Amino acid sequence: MFHTEKVSENYINKDNCPGYYNYVELSDGVNRCVLTDKYVDHYAEEIKNFEVFDDDIWVITFPKCGTTWTQEIVWLLNNNLDYEGAYNTLLDVRFPFIEIGAIVKDPRDSINHCKNLQRPRHIKTHLPKFLLPNQIWTVKPKIIYVARNPKDAAVSYFHHYRHIIGYTGTKDEFFDAYLAGKLLHSPINENVLEFWKLRDEPNILFLYYEDMKRNLKEEILKMMNFLGKSYTDEQIDKLCDHTSFKSMKINPSVNREQRIKTVKTVHNYVSKDENFTFMREGKIGSHHKEMTEEQKAKFDKYMAWSEFANVGFEYKTK
Ligand code: A3P
Repeated sequence: MFHTEKVSENYINKDNCPGYYNYVELSDGVNRCVLTDKYVDHYAEEIKNFEVFDDDIWVITFPKCGTTWTQEIVWLLNNNLDYEGAYNTLLDVRFPFIEIGAIVKDPRDSINHCKNLQRPRHIKTHLPKFLLPNQIWTVKPKIIYVARNPKDAAVSYFHHYRHIIGYTGTKDEFFDAYLAGKLLHSPINENVLEFWKLRDEPNILFLYYEDMKRNLKEEILKMMNFLGKSYTDEQIDKLCDHTSFKSMKINPSVNREQRIKTVKTVHNYVSKDENFTFMREGKIGSHHKEMTEEQKAKFDKYMAWSEFANVGFEYKTK
């Protein structure tokens, strides 16, 4: 179904990343995406043939672009603002990540988890367009796509790799791997471009992390209207408060503290910064203090991809 090729271990490998395993690039001849050999063997076809329902809600992003934040907002908007339900069940259970079983070492049947969700189902994925279920394009469930500028997303991914996958290499090597498309779910540009082209489809809402940061209420209202829901101004203010960075950081239902503890105790990767939290900085421009001028210049060049100019897309950096 796809052409597959083992990813060079020059960048990320078992020596500098104990959580690494067997990256494989899948390609349909035009598009490409890095996943794992387990994805190729057990997930690719099953996800392509996954049954889609018209009342599904999919949140699709490249990693570290505000997925968790958007998921919590969407789930609450679509569940009558049930804060108690949201608090009592982990977001990862309410709103599972369909391909996670293929990219983490501990066994999980994430496809069946999604299959068996009570409808309307809420499903998260970082897969690019060409790997999504075929029925997505015929059944047309609602899809919310969120883009974030790659400099901040890459810094966020660097910390994620360090603390959750155990990366011990340098930042320079990591950013080079990011730009060369050698990390899980890479490359970012192609992922964003394919959804940008679909932004006017009635079942697709294309959002930016930076807009959510600048005016959360406005973006929540867009999501509310897109989902066909209606809430009072007061209810929306409460939702803004509940999904503020400050609140999400201390909310155990969304902040993955249990997952981070498991990674520490089971895999023993996380040793560098005991204070690492999934809700890390939550800012626009966090790359300023984390990237050298040379690294920024490489990202600027990457972000000025000619394909973007052809379709009128630009990342937001403010
Ligand atoms: P940083 O590492 O830059 O802080 P994802 O959920 O796609 O993995 O994205 C994680 C990024 O979104 C992290 O970025 C995290 O802090 C940020 N984030 C999560 N919740 C947020 C919120 N309520 N407000 C702002 N940023 C948030």
